[in-house]
Amino acid sequence: MDWIGRFHPVIVHLPIGMLILAALLQLFWGKRAEWQKFIKTTLMIGFFAAIIACICGWVLANEGGYHDRSLFIHRWAGIGVAIVAFLMWRWHTKKETARYRTLAHLAMVGGLAYTGHLGGNMTHGIGYTVEDAPGLLQKMAGYDGRPTHTAYSDPDSVRIYHDLVKPFVDKKCTTCHNQYLTKGGLDVSSDSLFREGGRNGDVLGPAAESEFYRRVTMDDYSRKFMPPKGDPLSYQEIKLLGWWLDNGSDFDKTVAEAEHPKEIQAILMDRYGLDTKPKTFLEKTKVDPVSQEIMDRLTALGFGVNQLAQDNYFLDVRWRDVDTLNVNDAIPALEEVAPNVAWLDLSKAGVQDGSLSSIGKLKNMVRLKLDNNEITDQNIADLNGLQHLESLNLYNTQVTDAAISELKKLSGLKRLYLWLSQVTVAGKEEMEAAIPEIDVNLGITEG
Ligand code: HEC
Repeated sequence: MDWIGRFHPVIVHLPIGMLILAALLQLFWGKRAEWQKFIKTTLMIGFFAAIIACICGWVLANEGGYHDRSLFIHRWAGIGVAIVAFLMWRWHTKKETARYRTLAHLAMVGGLAYTGHLGGNMTHGIGYTVEDAPGLLQKMAGYDGRPTHTAYSDPDSVRIYHDLVKPFVDKKCTTCHNQYLTKGGLDVSSDSLFREGGRNGDVLGPAAESEFYRRVTMDDYSRKFMPPKGDPLSYQEIKLLGWWLDNGSDFDKTVAEAEHPKEIQAILMDRYGLDTKPKTFLEKTKVDPVSQEIMDRLTALGFGVNQLAQDNYFLDVRWRDVDTLNVNDAIPALEEVAPNVAWLDLSKAGVQDGSLSSIGKLKNMVRLKLDNNEITDQNIADLNGLQHLESLNLYNTQVTDAAISELKKLSGLKRLYLWLSQVTVAGKEEMEAAIPEIDVNLGITEG
């Protein structure tokens, strides 16, 4: 028996088509006698089709799960359409009705549109018929639009609930939890009512305690599982929901204001193209480009100079190991482009202690290689202002534990290479005590 109910959404188009056709015929040729028989037949077919649609619809409704209120109106509007179709068919030939015929047909089309709109809402969710309609029609229908974002660029302007969570809640939960149909006493269509919860009180709170979260994550054979029909929440949707709840179920919080666990970062990237990976110092900082003239001068002095990326004016500078040139004569020239030097590679270049004062002025430097040079503790203090330095290589130099008291002022340092230097395990430990996240590499002397 249930089976014939499934035909309702298909069969329903037949009376709609027939009755609209009758109305059009009436509108254009209603005054012509020879058309009357045809219009009457169309009304008759429309009537019988409407009866079949009503029967299928009634059976379908008994399967349950529809909005009580919308169902009530839709059901009786549909039956009303069938009754009016019957009356129009039977009375069509009567002369005295001729004057009102066009009016009756137009009223019928209005009734059909309304009934169909309710039906669309019930099967596809509120707003289905007007969602993509022109603005004016949407306004007439009192429809305020749904967020339709698919890609975002700025985590500052994306709100976790309204832009990320609400769209799928609207799609999958609002059909039964809205102002007309408030199953379980829960209305999620407005923020304030959602916050108030259902007949058993609050449904939000941290994911582990939230009834809303429990209902979508419980075993889906359970009678309590939500949604009871239709598509369940996807894995990503459940993760986003949990993330929102764990962030205080705040309706206005933006993505930028929340923490982003790795998995959420990946979901935000995948679903919305939203990049929430923390930006590095070099990504956040803007510097002016260096002129070609200065680049050429540095090259003539013996440096290889490259921009870090097309749209990033930081420089990757390395000594080209030119026999005829002296690195210590060339280094002071780097001060002219001090803000731009991000990476500096002076391995095996013959750098002497006296050059460290110039190197210490390259304030934005992130990576510095001074390995295999005759460097001692003497001027190491010149480097202690390099607050963005993340990696420092002093492999095979003469520095000792005495240098540590200066090096530990480099608070941004993450990696320090000291293999084949004079620094001991005690020095390494002193460094690690000062900068807990640091990785100090002593090479084979370790352990
Ligand atoms: C087809 C209708 C329907 C849909 C769709 C639906 N629910 Fe429900 N919901 C119900 C009914 C019926 C109840 C009351 C019975 C019950 O508590 O299980 C209910 C109750 C609830 C409750 C308990 C409220 C309380 O305080 O007792 C929560 C929470 C809930 N639903 C969450 C959801 C979520 C989340 C979704 C979307 C993923 C959803 N529902 C979609 C029909 C629906």
